[in-house]
Formats: sequence, structure tokens, C-alpha cells
Amino acid sequence: MADDSRKRSQSNSAPIISVKNVTKTFPTPHGPVEVLKGITFDVKRGETVCVLGGSGGGKSTLLKIMIGAIPATSGEVWIDGENIVGMKERDLNRIRRKFGVLFQSGALLNSMTVGENVALPIEMHTKQAPETIEIMVKVKLEQVGLRAAFDLLPSEISGGMQKRAALARAIALDPKIVFYDEPSAGLDPIATAAIDELINDLKTKMGMTNVVVTHVMESVRRIADKVVMLDKGNVLLYGTLDDLLNSDDPRVRKFVNGEVDALAAESEAYSSFLQDLMV
Ligand SMILES: Nc1ncnc2c1ncn2[C@@H]1O[C@H](COP(=O)(O)OP(=O)(O)OP(=O)(O)O)[C@@H](O)[C@H]1O
Ligand SMILES: [Mg+2]
Repeated sequence: MADDSRKRSQSNSAPIISVKNVTKTFPTPHGPVEVLKGITFDVKRGETVCVLGGSGGGKSTLLKIMIGAIPATSGEVWIDGENIVGMKERDLNRIRRKFGVLFQSGALLNSMTVGENVALPIEMHTKQAPETIEIMVKVKLEQVGLRAAFDLLPSEISGGMQKRAALARAIALDPKIVFYDEPSAGLDPIATAAIDELINDLKTKMGMTNVVVTHVMESVRRIADKVVMLDKGNVLLYGTLDDLLNSDDPRVRKFVNGEVDALAAESEAYSSFLQDLMV
């Protein structure tokens, strides 16, 4: 019976994701730090929600909690009718099949071809024959405009193409939801626009739901149906793209006018630099 409390009936209008009063406190040498102080918002099926905010505002932490990579300190995260907070690893793995994740670093395996990289989750989670997997991989690569890269190594394609290949891998099992952490990190405006177009395609052509952490205001304008703006661990604004663009709040205006971008971009460039060092 205990399981029933984790499930609830689903109708099409029910949100596919419900974040309810989520808090996160990290222990540090200087004492506990409360990074998320009670975050609440919904994501409806087939919409793109952008998570915005200044550097260090808790965006990546929230995303990690939503994919079950780290536990919330308190609160609930409902995904497709089940609360994943406090869930056992075995159940979490079942839920993880419902979504794909595109991390900031992309993280393709450099010793494998692009095709082999995209095949990985299909090989791990299904018992498809190799010929079937090859067809599935080619369809996914076609979907992200990378058919010709099947036999190439990640080092033989551009940064934007690597990001698209990582996206092909994230959607290899046709997830209902795709989570992205700074999908255009390190990309030029043209490659950024191409990723945004793919994010929109996944929504309109495949009916997928997108949750995108970004600080690129141009991307927000192109892809967001709704936005959740974090500020010092709280939700500063949760609403439509128009609500964001028309807000009078000076902190929101600062972000819309691109003044927060520079700061976030700098910290993001620094963290990708650190990640590169660790590879
Ligand atoms: N494992 C951890 N232990 C302690 N503190 C952490 C940990 N992870 C994150 N933090 C802290 O939580 C805060 C929020 O970090 P987070 O990475 O979620 O921010 P962000 O909004 O994604 O920032 P950015 O735009 O720079 O990526 C930061 O102050 C960070 O130092
Ligand atoms: Mg982050």
C-alpha cells in the first residue's frame, strides 16, 4: 500500500513534473548552506520550461534533484505520477528511463565513434539486435542533422556537432522528458540557434517535454513556454515568457536585459575549464 502514496491518477492535463517545496542544504566547512529554500512549480506535458537565474543560484542543483542524481533535503518531485524524493535506486532507475539528460559538458566518450556513443543507452537498456540498433542510431543522428557523422570520432567534429550528438544519445530511447544543463555552453550564436531549433523540434514533432537550465536570454526567447527564475534559493518568477518579458521587478529586468549573462557566462566558462582539466 505504501507504494500507492507515491502514485496518483494521471489525466492529460496533469503536469508531467511537479516540484513541491523543494529545499536543499549542503554541509560545508563553514556550516550548512541552504541553496534551495522551497522551490515550487509545475511542468506540463509537451512544454518547454526554462530555469533561469544568476550564477550560483541553484539551477544545476535543482536539475540534479529533478533527475534523482542528488537527494532533496525536503519537498517532493513528482515525475509522471510518482514522487522520486526518497525513492529506492531500483525504482529511480525505472523512472530514469522516462527521461534523457544533456549535461553541460556533453560527455561523449572520445574513444568511440559518434554512432557507438549514441548506441550506448540502447545497448544498455534494451535487447535489440545490433542491426536494429544501427538503424535506431541512424534515425536519431538524422533527427539532429548528423547522419554523416556516424563513423567519426567526437574529436573529428565541431563543438556544436558534439553537442547535437550528445542530444541524439539523450533521446536515443525516445524519452518523454529531456533535461538540459546549459545546452549552448561554449557554443557560438549560430550553433546555439541550431540547438534551440532542435529543442523546439523535439517538442513540436515528438511531443517531448523540455526542462532547460540556461542563462542565454536569446535562447529563452526562442524556446521557453514557461520560465522559473531562481534568486538566492527562492523562485523570483514563475510564469510565461511574456510574464518574464513584461516583469517590472528590477532583478528580473536585469536578467532580461542581459546584465546577468556576463557574470553567469564567466562562471560557466570557468567551470567548463575545470571540467576540461578533469577529463
Ligand atoms: N556538493 C556541494 N556541496 C556544497 N555546496 C554546493 C554543492 N553543489 C553546489 N553547491 C553550492 O550551491 C550553490 C548553487 O550551485 P549551482 O551549481 O546549483 O548553481 P547554478 O545556478 O547552477 O550556477 P551556475 O550558473 O554558475 O552554473 C553554489 O553556491 C554552490 O557552491
Ligand atoms: Mg549550473
